[in-house]
Amino acid sequence: MKALVLSGGAGTRLRPITHTSAKQLVPVANKPVLFYGLESIAAAGITDVGMIVGDTAAEIEEAVGDGAKFGLEVTYIPQERPLGLAHAVLIARDFLGDDDFVMYLGDNFIVGGINDVVDAFRTTRPDAQILLTRVPDPRSFGVAELGPSGQVVGLEEKPEHPKSDLALVGVYLFTPAIHEAVRAIKPSWRGELEITHAIQHLIDARADVRSTVVRGYWKDTGNVRDMLEVNRTVLESMERRIDGEVDEASETVGRVVVEEGARITNSRIVGPVVIGAGTVVSDSYVGPFTSVAENCRITDSELEFSIVLRDSSIDGVGRIESSLIGRHVEVTPAPGVPSAHRLVLGDHSKVQIRS
Ligand code: G1P
Repeated sequence: MKALVLSGGAGTRLRPITHTSAKQLVPVANKPVLFYGLESIAAAGITDVGMIVGDTAAEIEEAVGDGAKFGLEVTYIPQERPLGLAHAVLIARDFLGDDDFVMYLGDNFIVGGINDVVDAFRTTRPDAQILLTRVPDPRSFGVAELGPSGQVVGLEEKPEHPKSDLALVGVYLFTPAIHEAVRAIKPSWRGELEITHAIQHLIDARADVRSTVVRGYWKDTGNVRDMLEVNRTVLESMERRIDGEVDEASETVGRVVVEEGARITNSRIVGPVVIGAGTVVSDSYVGPFTSVAENCRITDSELEFSIVLRDSSIDGVGRIESSLIGRHVEVTPAPGVPSAHRLVLGDHSKVQIRS
């Protein structure tokens, strides 16, 4: 069995974070979301991975390399434009050959991995197997309609009036039956060859399409709250590990990871928290469910339930909560007079000010 991992696409939903980088590299507990997917694939006993890449190919290749660090062999397959998930299967035809494969969308996060579904698929070998999850607003997903005995009777891509709350999760298992289906379909209103349509094509041809409902699913719907939640879930399962320096005036409580090369001085860190390599926290409090990436400076501030991406600094600003802070960001106090907020914000930024 092979894996086809999709790591192209524009990532408009998590703006401004993904203006400048691939959505698959958005970190969860200081690790790119894509890496969790690759680890799940390796854990399911798959080694041969085709990686579909687009405009952000260089960044993805730099992060993943040849896949050896995950125990994988990665073949890069460039997609000239984001023409859809079924188009990705089309262009991967040579790589996939006549093998069964799991298609994994690199911006999806499945708590608990994919071992169980891959094992079940290997044993029963339906023509296709999809994963579903219940979501409050399914309109930004593919949506499945199930029959009385749980069989998939219909799929719709981003319907205005969803027929259920069962969203398609970005992990699909296919036999080579999918290749004929992706060749048979036409582009959708958004100009993409939709995998949803290809699977519907299989259903219409009376192929055996099964579904499994999963819990613990996240994708970049642009909702910062959800991203903070998935970060929280992953941090909660971390083991305490202090590889960096913590001085005598500091205290670290509970599940705290301080990476090698990080420094904590005169501060209190209450886990679960991860502090990235090269980051310096001084005269500060960092509270539960917070990830601070590499090479940041947190000085004379309080931070809780937040994500700070690399190379940013927060200095003397009191308390920050429920925040997502991008790369190379500086947060500082305003000078005394005039008494005003001074902001330099990128496109699509969101700021909440308590005055
Ligand atoms: C794609 C699929 C959609 C699925 C989603 C899951 O959407 O088309 O059916 O629910 O992935 O991540 P896209 O990311 O292309 O908007």
